Amino acid sequence: MPKVTFVQPDGVETVLDLPAGSTVMRGAVAAGVRGVVAECGGNLMCATCHVYTVDGAGDVFAAMTDDEDELLDCTAAPRRDTSRLSCQLGLTEGMDELVVHVPGAQT
Ligand code: FES
Repeated sequence: MPKVTFVQPDGVETVLDLPAGSTVMRGAVAAGVRGVVAECGGNLMCATCHVYTVDGAGDVFAAMTDDEDELLDCTAAPRRDTSRLSCQLGLTEGMDELVVHVPGAQT
């Protein structure tokens, strides 16, 4: 079962064991992780599920689609090279430990 660590801007960490088949966003929302808003419920319409992955983590998750790339230009916090929308970060059985950083603002 993938273990995902959410790191807040103040350094506080939340570690969750999340089931394969879910997404980083769904796990965060279900657990009440601060800073993952997900207004559109994962329909790729809000960009309020923005997270920063750790360098190289892009290889673990499915490649970014053009739609995600476009929506990432609308995030409240600055976009970085490691920015992803957590609703698009699907969790699979082969994943082990993952870390994402939560931005300081989502709306
Ligand atoms: S939850 Fe709205 S884009 Fe991810």
